[in-house]
Amino acid sequence: MVVSGGDRDSNVERYLVMVGGALYWSKVSPPLNTTYQIINCIAFLFGLALLSWKLFFVASFTMSRDPLVVGRVVGDVLDPFIRAASMSVIYNNKEVTNGSELKPSVVAREPRVEIEGYDTRTYYTLVMIDPDAPSPSNPTKREHLLWLVTDIQEKTTANYGNEVVSYESPNPTAGIHRIVFVLFRQSIRQTIYAPGWRQNFNTRDFAQYYDLGPPVAALYFNCQRENGCGGRRSVASGRN
Ligand SMILES: *[C@@H]1O[C@H](CO)[C@@H](O)[C@H](O)[C@H]1NC(C)=O
Repeated sequence: MVVSGGDRDSNVERYLVMVGGALYWSKVSPPLNTTYQIINCIAFLFGLALLSWKLFFVASFTMSRDPLVVGRVVGDVLDPFIRAASMSVIYNNKEVTNGSELKPSVVAREPRVEIEGYDTRTYYTLVMIDPDAPSPSNPTKREHLLWLVTDIQEKTTANYGNEVVSYESPNPTAGIHRIVFVLFRQSIRQTIYAPGWRQNFNTRDFAQYYDLGPPVAALYFNCQRENGCGGRRSVASGRN
């Protein structure tokens, strides 16, 4: 995710703008009377339109509309990263989408996590955390570790990995909490130790300590008390 290159195929537009523009402006002083000039003019405008559409696309979709950026997961928990694997989190046969709201009863048991990383020989580490503990307005226990599984192979599910810290059902007592899944690619099959406690876990430090590199995929949902309604997480959930 988050700006992954993006200018691989913009050469055509640049060429059209430059050539069209140069030819058009060099011949604009005599009256615009040949088909040649008209074609150049059209090519120029067409290139310009493509270029601005692309700039608009890159700016609005890859930056500000990225759910992890809007939900401040990138920022509070992660640095911007390039998505290099796909991860599906499935509770009771329903796939979790970014920013959706799930009740604690729905997430009481561990989900099925499916990974597709385009390399069947590597192993993955999955971290599930709550960065809004004990409450989003005063997250003094950020991050609360909910689940830690290592040595997951793709096409299998997280449940076939090595469960280092057992699954704990999200149980937000105050406010709307973001529950975040972060996937790392391991460079080798490695030993990762369970931290001494779940609170004040730090995904960035964890990744650095075990030399996991940047995340390859991430996803989050919102969770609040079973019969809670509304709340302050308006940015993340898209409500006001
Ligand atoms: C969640 O958002 C991230 C970042 O844009 C994206 O890579 C991922 O595919 C999304 N996942 C789902 C299930 O929507």
